[in-house]
Amino acid sequence: MSNVHIINHPLVQHKLTIVRDKNTGTKAFRELVDEIATLMAYEITRDMELEDFEVETPIQKMTAKTLTGKKLGVVPILRAGLGMQDGILKLIPAAKVGHVGLYRDHDSLEPVEYFVKLPSDVEERLFIVVDPMLATGGSAIMAIDCLKKRGAKNIKFMCLVAAPEGVAALEKAHPDVDIYIAGLDEKLNEEGYIVPGLGDAGDRLFGTK
Ligand code: PRP
Ligand code: URA
Repeated sequence: MSNVHIINHPLVQHKLTIVRDKNTGTKAFRELVDEIATLMAYEITRDMELEDFEVETPIQKMTAKTLTGKKLGVVPILRAGLGMQDGILKLIPAAKVGHVGLYRDHDSLEPVEYFVKLPSDVEERLFIVVDPMLATGGSAIMAIDCLKKRGAKNIKFMCLVAAPEGVAALEKAHPDVDIYIAGLDEKLNEEGYIVPGLGDAGDRLFGTK
């Protein structure tokens, strides 16, 4: 599980507990998912490259640091991934945003693609694919397939809650992709929901049923 990173930061864990609570309403759910995405983005960007930069402070000139390296792309998996988009952009406002639209067929649990729109320069970008839930792994695998088919070479995946089955499937399908998770849960139930999980992320974010 070398490319799997559990984000154990106390603020992330505390907020995730409130998100899991069935009594948390849509407004608070949305705000907390946004905040967790920001905190996770802080962790995910730890290995970003820096270069020297000459800056003049009011006191004197100095050599400081500035970001260099790959341009970023944030790719929420529709719908629920949208809940994490702005939280990441707060930290990385210059990132471009792509969207991959997938839904899980309720009977087969297989993902069905309905929309793909990515920023330009796909080959040079580092993409952060986001979705609150990694259940069977089918949606994340298909979204990353979509990116790779279009030339993406550097991809990280970030989710709030994952089932071990989904993590194993994603690692097997895309061993080059680093996976960032706030909560690694016990299992999937027969309907493909994560146990204990947080329920249906899209419905809780958007107030649908
Ligand atoms: C949910 C979730 C993931 C997917 C995870 O989306 O947001 O995209 O299920 O399940 P998987 O790992 O088994 O593929 P859903 O299909 O319910 O669509 P929505 O975001 O539009 O609600
Ligand atoms: N999608 C969700 O929204 N929740 C789950 O538990 C599994 C897939």
